[in-house]
Amino acid sequence: MNTSNEKRLAGETAIRYVEDDSVIGVGTGSTVAYFINALADIKNRIQGAVSSSEQSTQQLKSHGIKVLDLNAVGPLSLYVDGADECDPHKRLIKGGGAALTREKIIAAASGTFVCIIDSSKQVDLLGKFPLPIEVIPMARSHVAREISKRRGQPVWRDGVVTDNGNWILDVHGLSIIDPLGLEAELNQIVGVVSVGLFAKRPADVVLVGDRTL
Ligand code: 5RP
Repeated sequence: MNTSNEKRLAGETAIRYVEDDSVIGVGTGSTVAYFINALADIKNRIQGAVSSSEQSTQQLKSHGIKVLDLNAVGPLSLYVDGADECDPHKRLIKGGGAALTREKIIAAASGTFVCIIDSSKQVDLLGKFPLPIEVIPMARSHVAREISKRRGQPVWRDGVVTDNGNWILDVHGLSIIDPLGLEAELNQIVGVVSVGLFAKRPADVVLVGDRTL
């Protein structure tokens, strides 16, 4: 099966986890776009969505799905989002679409995180996909130097500004043997807003197409 078919199947299969009258946490990306399209078909069964990006907000609103503020709705039962890499422990690299900070916030505030991917995202060891890190703009060079000391090669995603007004460094050349430790360590660098490593809060369910892991 090709990649886009697997993404579409994963997005459509995730609808099974949606409970009536609930508010759904919605991620960002091309796989999530299929989920939003499927959510539109049952929009009268839900109260609305909390969105992780301006991109998803626009798509949700174009379908007439209400977009709600996380502060106003409290903890969510379900968050559905894609990933750039997923290991056998459901730990993820995310942020290819630069939405990692809001994605991480919603994942942390949700009971069940359903991650929707195609099979190309499955890896044994995280780190082949460059690890996105959101940084405060004035701290870009400082954070880059700190990462270089840890044997990563940071590359500024020049021209990209996140929805929070920050910048992205993509860190190449990492073999992430201890995802939890690296996430904690990188979070300590002054100027880092968030790290696209989802190890402390991994996915609960991973759908590869319509296959559940
Ligand atoms: C956005 C993300 C996406 O979930 C990730 O990049 C996967 O995207 P796609 O579904 O388009 O392959 O983390 O910040």
